[in-house]
Amino acid sequence: MQEFPRIQRLPPYVFATVTELKSKLRHAGEDIIDLGMGNPDLPTPKHIVEKLTEAARLPKNHRYSASRGIPKLRLAICNWYKRKFGVELDPETEAIATIGAKEGLAHLVLATMGPGDIALVPSPTYPIHTYSVIIAGADVRSIPLIDGVDDFMDRVERAMKTLWPRPKMLIISFPHNPTTEVVDLDFLKRVVAFAKENDILLIHDLAYADLVFDGYKAPSILQVPGAKDVAVELYSMSKGYSMAGWRVGFVVGNRQMVGALTRIKSYLDYGMFQAIQIAATVALNGPQRVVDEAVEVYRKRRDCLVDGFGRIGWDIAKPKGTMFVWAPIPAPFDAMGSLEFSKQMLLRAKVAVSPGVGFGEHGEGYVRFALCENEHRIRQAIRGVKTMLQSPARGRAK
Ligand SMILES: Cc1ncc(COP(=O)(O)O)c(C=O)c1O
Repeated sequence: MQEFPRIQRLPPYVFATVTELKSKLRHAGEDIIDLGMGNPDLPTPKHIVEKLTEAARLPKNHRYSASRGIPKLRLAICNWYKRKFGVELDPETEAIATIGAKEGLAHLVLATMGPGDIALVPSPTYPIHTYSVIIAGADVRSIPLIDGVDDFMDRVERAMKTLWPRPKMLIISFPHNPTTEVVDLDFLKRVVAFAKENDILLIHDLAYADLVFDGYKAPSILQVPGAKDVAVELYSMSKGYSMAGWRVGFVVGNRQMVGALTRIKSYLDYGMFQAIQIAATVALNGPQRVVDEAVEVYRKRRDCLVDGFGRIGWDIAKPKGTMFVWAPIPAPFDAMGSLEFSKQMLLRAKVAVSPGVGFGEHGEGYVRFALCENEHRIRQAIRGVKTMLQSPARGRAK
Protein backbone atom coordinates (compact mmCIF):
# COMPACT_ATOMS: atom_id res chain seq x y z
CA MET A 1 0.00 0.00 0.00
CA GLN A 2 1.30 3.44 -0.94
CA GLU A 3 0.84 6.33 1.48
CA PHE A 4 -0.63 9.67 0.50
CA PRO A 5 0.65 12.08 3.15
CA ARG A 6 -1.55 14.97 2.09
CA ILE A 7 -4.67 12.81 2.24
CA GLN A 8 -3.66 11.41 5.60
CA ARG A 9 -3.88 14.93 7.03
CA LEU A 10 -7.52 15.17 5.93
CA PRO A 11 -9.84 13.50 8.46
CA PRO A 12 -13.10 11.91 7.30
CA TYR A 13 -15.80 14.52 6.87
CA VAL A 14 -17.88 14.71 10.10
CA PHE A 15 -20.96 15.63 8.08
CA ALA A 16 -20.71 12.32 6.18
CA THR A 17 -22.32 10.42 9.09
CA VAL A 18 -25.43 12.57 8.99
CA THR A 19 -25.52 12.62 5.17
CA GLU A 20 -25.36 8.82 5.02
CA LEU A 21 -28.15 8.46 7.59
CA LYS A 22 -30.24 10.98 5.64
CA SER A 23 -29.81 9.01 2.39
CA LYS A 24 -30.66 5.75 4.16
CA LEU A 25 -33.88 7.21 5.56
CA ARG A 26 -34.82 8.72 2.20
CA HIS A 27 -34.27 5.39 0.50
CA ALA A 28 -36.57 3.85 3.08
CA GLY A 29 -39.26 6.31 1.92
CA GLU A 30 -39.02 8.90 4.72
CA ASP A 31 -39.72 12.54 3.85
CA ILE A 32 -36.64 14.29 5.24
CA ILE A 33 -36.57 18.08 5.42
CA ASP A 34 -33.04 19.03 4.51
CA LEU A 35 -31.80 22.01 6.49
CA GLY A 36 -28.32 20.50 6.60
CA MET A 37 -26.20 21.54 3.68
CA GLY A 38 -26.06 25.22 2.68
CA ASN A 39 -26.97 24.43 -0.91
CA PRO A 40 -29.01 27.40 -2.23
CA ASP A 41 -32.32 26.20 -3.70
CA LEU A 42 -33.45 29.39 -5.45
CA PRO A 43 -33.28 29.41 -9.25
CA THR A 44 -30.67 31.64 -10.89
CA PRO A 45 -32.42 34.81 -12.18
CA LYS A 46 -33.80 34.39 -15.69
CA HIS A 47 -31.73 37.05 -17.46
CA ILE A 48 -28.51 35.37 -16.28
CA VAL A 49 -29.61 31.94 -17.50
CA GLU A 50 -30.67 33.46 -20.83
CA LYS A 51 -27.26 35.07 -21.30
CA LEU A 52 -25.62 31.74 -20.59
CA THR A 53 -27.70 29.90 -23.18
CA GLU A 54 -27.07 32.62 -25.76
CA ALA A 55 -23.31 32.60 -25.09
CA ALA A 56 -23.17 28.80 -25.01
CA ARG A 57 -24.38 28.68 -28.65
CA LEU A 58 -21.39 30.65 -29.92
CA PRO A 59 -18.45 28.45 -30.99
CA LYS A 60 -15.95 31.15 -30.02
CA ASN A 61 -16.93 30.51 -26.41
CA HIS A 62 -16.21 26.79 -26.68
CA ARG A 63 -12.44 27.21 -26.57
CA TYR A 64 -10.18 27.45 -23.54
CA SER A 65 -10.82 30.70 -21.72
CA ALA A 66 -8.60 32.90 -19.54
CA SER A 67 -7.57 31.27 -16.28
CA ARG A 68 -7.77 34.55 -14.32
CA GLY A 69 -11.08 35.54 -15.91
CA ILE A 70 -11.91 37.42 -19.11
CA PRO A 71 -11.16 41.19 -18.95
CA LYS A 72 -14.86 42.16 -19.00
CA LEU A 73 -15.58 39.97 -15.98
CA ARG A 74 -12.63 41.39 -14.04
CA LEU A 75 -13.78 44.89 -14.94
CA ALA A 76 -17.35 44.05 -13.84
CA ILE A 77 -15.98 42.77 -10.52
CA CYS A 78 -14.09 46.03 -9.95
CA ASN A 79 -17.07 48.20 -10.91
CA TRP A 80 -19.29 46.14 -8.60
CA TYR A 81 -16.84 46.78 -5.72
CA LYS A 82 -16.84 50.47 -6.50
CA ARG A 83 -20.63 50.66 -6.50
CA LYS A 84 -21.19 48.47 -3.45
CA PHE A 85 -18.30 49.51 -1.20
CA GLY A 86 -16.72 52.60 -2.77
CA VAL A 87 -13.48 50.62 -3.19
CA GLU A 88 -11.20 51.22 -6.19
CA LEU A 89 -9.54 48.14 -7.71
CA ASP A 90 -7.29 47.60 -10.70
CA PRO A 91 -8.79 44.82 -12.88
CA GLU A 92 -5.31 43.91 -14.16
CA THR A 93 -3.55 43.33 -10.87
CA GLU A 94 -6.07 43.36 -8.04
CA ALA A 95 -8.88 41.08 -9.19
CA ILE A 96 -9.07 37.48 -10.30
CA ALA A 97 -12.10 35.31 -11.11
CA THR A 98 -12.16 31.90 -9.44
CA ILE A 99 -14.13 28.70 -9.83
CA GLY A 100 -16.23 29.57 -6.79
CA ALA A 101 -14.89 31.14 -3.61
CA LYS A 102 -13.93 27.71 -2.31
CA GLU A 103 -11.51 26.98 -5.14
CA GLY A 104 -10.17 30.52 -4.88
CA LEU A 105 -9.47 30.17 -1.19
CA ALA A 106 -7.93 26.69 -1.47
CA HIS A 107 -5.54 27.68 -4.23
CA LEU A 108 -4.74 31.05 -2.69
CA VAL A 109 -3.60 29.32 0.48
CA LEU A 110 -1.74 26.67 -1.53
CA ALA A 111 0.05 29.47 -3.38
CA THR A 112 1.03 31.41 -0.27
CA MET A 113 1.53 28.90 2.55
CA GLY A 114 3.81 25.92 2.96
CA PRO A 115 5.45 23.60 5.49
CA GLY A 116 6.50 25.45 8.64
CA ASP A 117 3.97 28.27 8.14
CA ILE A 118 1.12 28.83 10.59
CA ALA A 119 -2.34 30.26 9.93
CA LEU A 120 -4.76 31.47 12.58
CA VAL A 121 -8.26 30.27 11.80
CA PRO A 122 -11.48 30.55 13.85
CA SER A 123 -13.15 27.49 15.32
CA PRO A 124 -15.89 26.79 14.42
CA THR A 125 -15.67 27.81 10.79
CA TYR A 126 -16.41 26.80 7.21
CA PRO A 127 -14.15 23.72 6.77
CA ILE A 128 -12.04 24.92 3.81
CA HIS A 129 -10.76 27.83 5.95
CA THR A 130 -9.00 25.20 8.03
CA TYR A 131 -8.31 22.50 5.47
CA SER A 132 -6.87 24.75 2.77
CA VAL A 133 -4.01 25.32 5.24
CA ILE A 134 -3.67 21.60 5.91
CA ILE A 135 -3.68 20.82 2.17
CA ALA A 136 -0.91 23.40 1.69
CA GLY A 137 1.20 21.45 4.20
CA ALA A 138 1.12 24.32 6.70
CA ASP A 139 -0.25 24.30 10.27
CA VAL A 140 -3.43 25.70 11.76
CA ARG A 141 -3.90 27.29 15.18
CA SER A 142 -7.62 27.36 15.90
CA ILE A 143 -8.87 30.41 17.71
CA PRO A 144 -12.24 29.91 19.45
CA LEU A 145 -15.01 32.08 18.04
CA ILE A 146 -17.46 31.44 20.84
CA ASP A 147 -18.03 34.62 22.85
CA GLY A 148 -18.38 37.22 20.13
CA VAL A 149 -15.95 38.82 17.74
CA ASP A 150 -14.10 41.15 20.14
CA ASP A 151 -13.22 38.24 22.36
CA PHE A 152 -12.05 36.40 19.23
CA MET A 153 -9.67 39.24 18.34
CA ASP A 154 -8.38 39.38 21.93
CA ARG A 155 -7.52 35.69 21.59
CA VAL A 156 -5.89 36.25 18.20
CA GLU A 157 -3.71 38.99 19.69
CA ARG A 158 -2.72 36.79 22.63
CA ALA A 159 -1.91 33.89 20.28
CA MET A 160 0.32 36.15 18.21
CA LYS A 161 2.38 37.00 21.30
CA THR A 162 2.92 33.39 22.34
CA LEU A 163 3.25 31.39 19.11
CA TRP A 164 6.55 30.48 17.50
CA PRO A 165 7.16 30.42 14.59
CA ARG A 166 5.04 33.54 14.27
CA PRO A 167 1.82 33.03 12.34
CA LYS A 168 1.92 34.19 8.74
CA MET A 169 -1.78 34.45 7.98
CA LEU A 170 -5.19 35.10 9.55
CA ILE A 171 -8.29 33.78 7.80
CA ILE A 172 -11.59 35.39 8.78
CA SER A 173 -15.08 35.55 7.32
CA PHE A 174 -17.94 37.81 8.38
CA PRO A 175 -20.95 37.35 8.13
CA HIS A 176 -19.71 34.06 9.48
CA ASN A 177 -20.65 30.52 8.61
CA PRO A 178 -21.72 28.77 10.84
CA THR A 179 -21.99 31.15 13.85
CA THR A 180 -23.71 33.94 11.82
CA GLU A 181 -21.56 36.51 13.70
CA VAL A 182 -21.36 39.86 11.94
CA VAL A 183 -18.93 42.76 12.32
CA ASP A 184 -18.74 46.48 11.68
CA LEU A 185 -16.04 48.45 9.90
CA ASP A 186 -14.31 49.33 13.20
CA PHE A 187 -13.74 45.66 13.85
CA LEU A 188 -12.14 45.23 10.42
CA LYS A 189 -9.98 48.31 11.12
CA ARG A 190 -8.74 46.58 14.24
CA VAL A 191 -7.95 43.42 12.22
CA VAL A 192 -6.05 45.36 9.54
CA ALA A 193 -4.06 47.31 12.14
CA PHE A 194 -3.20 44.04 13.86
CA ALA A 195 -2.05 42.48 10.58
CA LYS A 196 0.15 45.45 9.78
CA GLU A 197 1.70 45.57 13.24
CA ASN A 198 2.51 41.89 13.09
CA ASP A 199 3.34 41.63 9.41
CA ILE A 200 0.80 38.92 8.61
CA LEU A 201 -1.44 38.30 5.63
CA LEU A 202 -5.21 38.53 5.85
CA ILE A 203 -7.85 36.61 3.94
CA HIS A 204 -11.41 37.81 4.42
CA ASP A 205 -14.05 35.50 2.99
CA LEU A 206 -17.06 37.73 2.28
CA ALA A 207 -19.19 35.00 0.70
CA TYR A 208 -22.27 36.33 2.52
CA ALA A 209 -21.79 39.97 1.50
CA ASP A 210 -25.35 40.14 0.14
CA LEU A 211 -27.24 37.96 2.60
CA VAL A 212 -27.83 40.52 5.33
CA PHE A 213 -31.01 41.52 7.13
CA ASP A 214 -32.75 44.17 9.22
CA GLY A 215 -30.78 47.09 7.80
CA TYR A 216 -27.37 45.61 8.61
CA LYS A 217 -24.73 46.02 5.87
CA ALA A 218 -21.67 43.80 5.74
CA PRO A 219 -18.50 45.86 5.35
CA SER A 220 -15.67 44.94 3.00
CA ILE A 221 -12.24 44.72 4.57
CA LEU A 222 -10.99 46.77 1.60
CA GLN A 223 -12.99 49.74 2.91
CA VAL A 224 -10.34 50.04 5.60
CA PRO A 225 -7.73 52.54 4.34
CA GLY A 226 -4.51 50.71 3.48
CA ALA A 227 -6.08 47.24 3.75
CA LYS A 228 -4.73 46.29 0.33
CA ASP A 229 -1.23 46.28 1.80
CA VAL A 230 -2.06 43.09 3.70
CA ALA A 231 -5.48 41.77 2.72
CA VAL A 232 -7.48 40.05 0.05
CA GLU A 233 -11.20 39.43 0.04
CA LEU A 234 -13.23 36.61 -1.48
CA TYR A 235 -16.71 36.89 -2.89
CA SER A 236 -19.07 34.16 -4.08
CA MET A 237 -21.80 34.42 -6.69
CA SER A 238 -23.40 31.29 -5.20
CA LYS A 239 -25.46 33.09 -2.56
CA GLY A 240 -26.88 36.48 -3.53
CA TYR A 241 -27.12 35.59 -7.24
CA SER A 242 -28.26 31.98 -6.57
CA MET A 243 -25.50 30.65 -8.87
CA ALA A 244 -24.07 27.90 -6.64
CA GLY A 245 -23.81 25.27 -9.37
CA TRP A 246 -22.15 27.67 -11.79
CA ARG A 247 -18.98 27.96 -9.69
CA VAL A 248 -18.12 31.62 -9.91
CA GLY A 249 -16.31 33.66 -7.30
CA PHE A 250 -13.51 36.15 -7.14
CA VAL A 251 -10.55 37.28 -5.09
CA VAL A 252 -9.65 40.97 -4.88
CA GLY A 253 -7.16 43.17 -3.06
CA ASN A 254 -3.47 42.73 -2.30
CA ARG A 255 -1.48 42.48 -5.55
CA GLN A 256 1.10 40.08 -4.27
CA MET A 257 -1.53 37.57 -3.16
CA VAL A 258 -3.71 38.04 -6.25
CA GLY A 259 -0.53 37.59 -8.33
CA ALA A 260 0.39 34.37 -6.51
CA LEU A 261 -3.10 32.97 -7.07
CA THR A 262 -3.01 34.02 -10.72
CA ARG A 263 0.32 32.22 -11.18
CA ILE A 264 -0.76 28.95 -9.56
CA LYS A 265 -4.09 28.94 -11.39
CA SER A 266 -2.33 29.50 -14.71
CA TYR A 267 -0.74 26.09 -14.13
CA LEU A 268 -3.92 24.41 -12.95
CA ASP A 269 -6.87 25.53 -15.07
CA TYR A 270 -7.94 27.27 -18.27
CA GLY A 271 -10.64 29.33 -16.60
CA MET A 272 -14.33 28.79 -16.27
CA PHE A 273 -16.39 28.00 -19.35
CA GLN A 274 -16.42 31.35 -21.14
CA ALA A 275 -20.22 31.41 -21.48
CA ILE A 276 -20.44 31.25 -17.69
CA GLN A 277 -17.99 34.13 -17.37
CA ILE A 278 -20.09 36.19 -19.79
CA ALA A 279 -23.29 35.42 -17.89
CA ALA A 280 -21.57 36.25 -14.58
CA THR A 281 -20.52 39.61 -16.06
CA VAL A 282 -24.15 40.29 -16.96
CA ALA A 283 -25.20 39.32 -13.42
CA LEU A 284 -22.77 41.79 -11.84
CA ASN A 285 -23.57 44.62 -14.25
CA GLY A 286 -27.32 43.97 -14.47
CA PRO A 287 -30.34 44.70 -12.25
CA GLN A 288 -29.53 44.10 -8.60
CA ARG A 289 -33.11 43.75 -7.40
CA VAL A 290 -32.74 40.01 -8.05
CA VAL A 291 -30.34 39.94 -5.11
CA ASP A 292 -32.78 41.88 -2.91
CA GLU A 293 -35.50 39.41 -3.82
CA ALA A 294 -33.34 36.44 -2.79
CA VAL A 295 -32.46 38.18 0.48
CA GLU A 296 -36.15 38.69 1.20
CA VAL A 297 -36.83 34.97 0.68
CA TYR A 298 -34.07 34.05 3.14
CA ARG A 299 -35.24 36.66 5.65
CA LYS A 300 -38.76 35.26 5.65
CA ARG A 301 -37.43 31.74 6.09
CA ARG A 302 -35.22 32.91 8.95
CA ASP A 303 -38.21 34.52 10.70
CA CYS A 304 -40.40 31.49 10.07
CA LEU A 305 -37.77 29.17 11.57
CA VAL A 306 -36.62 31.25 14.55
CA ASP A 307 -40.15 32.44 15.51
CA GLY A 308 -41.54 28.93 15.02
CA PHE A 309 -38.92 27.31 17.22
CA GLY A 310 -39.37 30.10 19.78
CA ARG A 311 -43.07 29.18 20.02
CA ILE A 312 -42.21 25.58 20.90
CA GLY A 313 -39.65 26.63 23.53
CA TRP A 314 -36.39 26.49 21.55
CA ASP A 315 -34.96 30.00 21.82
CA ILE A 316 -32.52 30.95 19.09
CA ALA A 317 -31.03 34.36 18.27
CA LYS A 318 -32.05 35.85 14.91
CA PRO A 319 -29.02 36.18 12.66
CA LYS A 320 -28.28 39.49 10.91
CA GLY A 321 -26.50 37.72 8.07
CA THR A 322 -25.82 34.46 6.16
CA MET A 323 -28.33 31.83 5.10
CA PHE A 324 -27.96 29.94 8.39
CA VAL A 325 -29.35 29.78 11.87
CA TRP A 326 -26.92 28.71 14.60
CA ALA A 327 -28.84 27.08 17.40
CA PRO A 328 -27.74 25.92 20.86
CA ILE A 329 -28.86 22.33 21.49
CA PRO A 330 -31.92 22.54 23.76
CA ALA A 331 -31.39 21.63 27.43
CA PRO A 332 -32.84 18.11 27.60
CA PHE A 333 -30.51 17.03 24.78
CA ASP A 334 -27.34 19.05 25.31
CA ALA A 335 -25.39 16.29 27.06
CA MET A 336 -25.50 14.02 24.00
CA GLY A 337 -23.40 16.34 21.81
CA SER A 338 -24.17 17.78 18.39
CA LEU A 339 -23.48 14.68 16.29
CA GLU A 340 -25.81 12.46 18.29
CA PHE A 341 -28.42 15.24 18.51
CA SER A 342 -28.32 15.65 14.72
CA LYS A 343 -28.92 11.91 14.30
CA GLN A 344 -31.87 12.12 16.70
CA MET A 345 -33.25 15.07 14.74
CA LEU A 346 -33.11 12.95 11.59
CA LEU A 347 -34.61 9.81 13.07
CA ARG A 348 -37.28 11.42 15.21
CA ALA A 349 -38.10 14.81 13.70
CA LYS A 350 -37.17 13.87 10.10
CA VAL A 351 -35.08 17.02 9.87
CA ALA A 352 -31.47 17.13 8.65
CA VAL A 353 -29.18 19.69 10.29
CA SER A 354 -25.39 20.07 10.44
CA PRO A 355 -23.78 19.13 13.76
CA GLY A 356 -21.80 22.08 15.14
CA VAL A 357 -18.76 19.92 15.86
CA GLY A 358 -18.35 19.38 12.10
CA PHE A 359 -17.18 23.02 11.90
CA GLY A 360 -14.47 22.53 14.54
CA GLU A 361 -14.33 21.48 18.18
CA HIS A 362 -15.67 24.83 19.40
CA GLY A 363 -18.83 24.29 17.39
CA GLU A 364 -19.85 21.58 19.84
CA GLY A 365 -23.13 22.30 21.65
CA TYR A 366 -24.77 23.77 18.53
CA VAL A 367 -26.43 22.69 15.31
CA ARG A 368 -26.65 24.71 12.11
CA PHE A 369 -29.84 25.08 10.10
CA ALA A 370 -29.45 26.08 6.45
CA LEU A 371 -32.41 28.09 5.14
CA CYS A 372 -32.58 26.01 1.96
CA GLU A 373 -36.15 24.72 2.15
CA ASN A 374 -39.31 26.79 1.73
CA GLU A 375 -41.46 28.13 4.59
CA HIS A 376 -44.02 25.37 4.24
CA ARG A 377 -41.28 22.76 4.72
CA ILE A 378 -39.75 24.76 7.59
CA ARG A 379 -43.13 24.72 9.38
CA GLN A 380 -43.27 20.96 8.81
CA ALA A 381 -39.78 20.69 10.36
CA ILE A 382 -40.94 22.66 13.40
CA ARG A 383 -43.87 20.26 13.92
CA GLY A 384 -41.46 17.31 13.80
CA VAL A 385 -39.09 18.92 16.29
CA LYS A 386 -42.00 19.83 18.56
CA THR A 387 -42.91 16.16 18.98
CA MET A 388 -39.27 15.34 19.67
CA LEU A 389 -38.89 18.07 22.30
CA GLN A 390 -42.01 16.87 24.06
CA SER A 391 -40.51 13.40 24.66
CA PRO A 392 -36.76 13.94 25.07
CA ALA A 393 -35.91 10.72 26.89
CA ARG A 394 -35.29 8.15 24.19
CA GLY A 395 -32.45 5.80 23.27
CA ARG A 396 -29.33 6.76 21.34
CA ALA A 397 -29.39 6.62 17.54
CA LYS A 398 -27.82 3.53 16.01
C1 LIG B 1 -17.97 31.13 4.15
C2 LIG B 1 -18.12 30.46 2.81
N1 LIG B 1 -17.23 30.69 1.85
C3 LIG B 1 -17.32 30.11 0.64
C4 LIG B 1 -18.36 29.25 0.36
C5 LIG B 1 -18.41 28.59 -0.99
O1 LIG B 1 -18.63 29.51 -1.98
P1 LIG B 1 -18.56 29.06 -3.51
O2 LIG B 1 -19.84 28.35 -3.83
O3 LIG B 1 -18.39 30.33 -4.24
O4 LIG B 1 -17.38 28.16 -3.64
C6 LIG B 1 -19.32 28.96 1.32
C7 LIG B 1 -20.41 28.02 1.02
O5 LIG B 1 -21.13 27.56 1.82
C8 LIG B 1 -19.18 29.58 2.59
O6 LIG B 1 -20.06 29.33 3.55
